[in-house]
Amino acid sequence: MKQPRLGRGLRDLGAPCFLPDSARAPARVPAPSPRAAPPPSIVCVTSGKGGTGKSVITSNLAVHLASAGKRVIAVDADMGLANLHLLLGIHPARSVMEVIENGRTLHEVAESGPAGVRLAAGGSGKPEMADLHPGRLRRLVAAMDESGDEADVVLVDTGAGIGRATTCFLYALGVIVVVTTPDVTAMTDGYAVIKNVVRNNRGASLLLVVNRAASAVEGIEVFMRMDRICQKFLGRSLLYLGHVLEDRRVAASVAARSPVLLDQPASPAAACLRGVGRSLMLNMAERAVALPAGEPENGRAARERGSGCA
Ligand SMILES: Nc1ncnc2c1ncn2[C@@H]1O[C@H](COP(=O)(O)OP(=O)(O)OP(=O)(O)O)[C@@H](O)[C@H]1O
Ligand SMILES: [Mg+2]
Repeated sequence: MKQPRLGRGLRDLGAPCFLPDSARAPARVPAPSPRAAPPPSIVCVTSGKGGTGKSVITSNLAVHLASAGKRVIAVDADMGLANLHLLLGIHPARSVMEVIENGRTLHEVAESGPAGVRLAAGGSGKPEMADLHPGRLRRLVAAMDESGDEADVVLVDTGAGIGRATTCFLYALGVIVVVTTPDVTAMTDGYAVIKNVVRNNRGASLLLVVNRAASAVEGIEVFMRMDRICQKFLGRSLLYLGHVLEDRRVAASVAARSPVLLDQPASPAAACLRGVGRSLMLNMAERAVALPAGEPENGRAARERGSGCA
């Protein structure tokens, strides 16, 4: 005989019911695993053209978020040409290679940096890393997901373009920050990256930073041009995280191996970077509220579809 269904509200209230005991058995709730820390927010910083300022922005966002009390691990995923450690003034003894090869966790390989930032360094000048089969990068993506015990935010600094070592991260992660400059070639290449992300990682949030802008107005104009093109040809909107002014103190801070937020906190670029950091934190908070529990944050849906590191 078909049993009448007990409404959710009744079950929640524990109302008496006429169903047989078997039908009244409480729903089986899986026991929480001992390692049930929620995955961290994973944010991937990328660009189409090289040299747009990804690493400068990643290092300063890391400092901003860490200063705001977040546990931050920055991951240098510019495989083979890593330099985030230079911008953070760290001399790393370990690298993400130990995550990929030896199954270490991000926390185990991460080195301490300024403002409490931790860095999982990449390898610099190492062709064996640049040539890694993307399938082996899968382990690095998994380690990011598993780092919730040690990190609230994982910031991933990628190489430029749409090579396989970079698209592995672009197609597997859920939040992609594209860094462009007002330069038309940077915008064109940035659009190419966005197009590939939209095609291969449909659920990803796409955020834009306009670096080396001459003014706030120029930043907004660049954003509006790119957003209009994305809407027209891809049916997707971008979110604007903000602009960073062209500022010679950025180059000086790079030379000093200290993020401009710490080296020149009163500079125009530092003020802009704090604004970009605030926008990112707001975006992360909004996503945390908007996503119901169990929703595929961090691009897990794309990974389950087999996108990402093939
Ligand atoms: N807002 C800025 N104002 C002035 N100079 C800047 C600014 N942002 C970045 N730069 C300069 O651009 C250089 C390159 O920046 P960065 O290394 O972050 O680029 P990238 O996108 O990570 O490059 P790559 O593609 O090689 O990884 C910096 O060393 C700095 O001198
Ligand atoms: Mg870089």
